[in-house]
Amino acid sequence: MNRFLQVPILLLLLCLGCQEEKKQAPKDEGMDLNKKWWKESIIYQIYPRSFKDTNGDGVGDLRGIIEKLDYIKSLGVTAVWLNPIYSSPNDDNGYDVSDYRDIMADFGNMEDFDAMLQGMHERNIKLIMDVVVNHSSDEHEWFKQSRSSRDNPYRDYYHWWPAEKGKPNYRYSLFDENGDAWKYDSITDSYYLHYFSVKQPDLNWENPKVRQEVYDIMKFWAEKGVDGFRLDAFQFAAKDTKFPAIDDDLEKNFIQHYAMQDGLHTYLQEMNEEVLSKYDVMSVAEGAGRNFEDAHNLVDADRNELNMAYAFEGVDIAKSDGYELSTLKEVFTKWDREFAKEGWLSIFLANHDQARLVSRYGNDTPEFRAASAKLLNTFILSMRGTPYCYYGDELGMTNIGFETIEEYQDIAAINGYKKVVNQGGDVEAYMKNLKFSSRDNGRTPMQWDTSANANFTSGTPWLPVNENYKEINVASEEMDPNSVLNHFKAMTKLRKNNDVLVYGSYELIAKEHPSIYAYTRTLGNEKVAVLLNFSTDKATMELPEGWNLGEEWINNLQPIKANDNQIELLPYQAVIISLN
Ligand code: GLC
Ligand code: CA
Repeated sequence: MNRFLQVPILLLLLCLGCQEEKKQAPKDEGMDLNKKWWKESIIYQIYPRSFKDTNGDGVGDLRGIIEKLDYIKSLGVTAVWLNPIYSSPNDDNGYDVSDYRDIMADFGNMEDFDAMLQGMHERNIKLIMDVVVNHSSDEHEWFKQSRSSRDNPYRDYYHWWPAEKGKPNYRYSLFDENGDAWKYDSITDSYYLHYFSVKQPDLNWENPKVRQEVYDIMKFWAEKGVDGFRLDAFQFAAKDTKFPAIDDDLEKNFIQHYAMQDGLHTYLQEMNEEVLSKYDVMSVAEGAGRNFEDAHNLVDADRNELNMAYAFEGVDIAKSDGYELSTLKEVFTKWDREFAKEGWLSIFLANHDQARLVSRYGNDTPEFRAASAKLLNTFILSMRGTPYCYYGDELGMTNIGFETIEEYQDIAAINGYKKVVNQGGDVEAYMKNLKFSSRDNGRTPMQWDTSANANFTSGTPWLPVNENYKEINVASEEMDPNSVLNHFKAMTKLRKNNDVLVYGSYELIAKEHPSIYAYTRTLGNEKVAVLLNFSTDKATMELPEGWNLGEEWINNLQPIKANDNQIELLPYQAVIISLN
């Protein structure tokens, strides 16, 4: 029996009415585009320590960012995500905050901040702040109070385990030199929890006071006019505070055990209600949980939590022995498919926790560096999702590749080394991997011009400048019409002028091709093909049926050779071409 016959006629009419309305709206895969400014944003990530130093202390500062605002504008990006700039003893370069309402002395002061924000807004550039509230610094006043006595009012701001109950069950720490997330503190004869370094105690999100403090902090910055928040390590914020034994290889599977624990969604919904919904701000959390379901629960519009997912699967593909193009295709295609109808993604292949884009995903030899860097930027800026471009990648900056542990500054590298030594592991293998993958590779100073220290600083840079700065730098690349930089600018312009690159649906083409990553983006009647040759050899591809190649929108090398049924791409050639 047809159950539609049972639907009252009025409802039926109403339903027809809404169908009518839907038909008129622009459509993509049968749904509204649901336009939002943060979907159209192109985000430029700045690691402030390494961008531009103005007072000669070797450390980048806010005045340095102000000095370079016209440069940032010239890139065609529309928002900046700034790594943490709050007061911090710098155990983890600002990811250990000692005062959330003040600026780190190294970086300047609140006046500098206000001037920087104003300068950005004058140029229509939005500012996304990093919010680090899974943990604070152990030098934060809350922790100083908390550790002082067991009955201090701040005691429950952190996770404590009284020693008389014995040693707490093992928890893995990412940055601890023994990998142990519990630190014994003699003042109160208790252990505290730190998923990161000993100087980064985890905040107790079960405590409503902690949550309120955080919302107040976020409001403080939103009132100043910042345009968004990136929630650092937030997927780990909720914990089972009974700390039961975990019978598993915790180090290997920590995401499964730490991410998205009970309570997290409640905290995010509360944060949304208290802060995010009250301002025109975008929100993104680092990490997207354990699976697609978690990711959707974080960002689908009806959840009222966050705006976009920032999933690690793509950025984790490249290892020191390379990666398979088929995996890259598979991962990005799968995530796009999952988010085609609901939710929104971040698109990135680099950030401050990774080595350099071109060294990991491209080819940083002199012959192919420029072409492959352009190819990667073409990729990031032509996918569906909000692109995140890490400072220096617009130039094709490369890994510095330190040889000895003394050269490293990063706590992850240094404590990781100690851990290998402490555990009698393979130090040589560790160093080899570090040379390729260390976060310091991605943190060397920005290369501005050919003068000393690439004109990053007049003093001694906190981390050495890559020796290749005489060739790879802003000033030289600005003058060269074929530079990686000018290609980047052309790509941002293209994306901004063509909704198809933002909202268009994505379809993988020639899935099995061993060296070409090809896909189309389609919006209404408009269709473009993105063709990327990820190899050091020429590659040909059969043209799919029905393809009529139109105008080339962008091309990093010479015009492509094509006949009726085949195209040929040069090594690392990247082309976007319209299809008629
Ligand atoms: C995040 C940050 C990383 C930091 C860690 C601890 O993973 O991206 O840089 O070290 O959290 O705050
Ligand atoms: Ca400085």
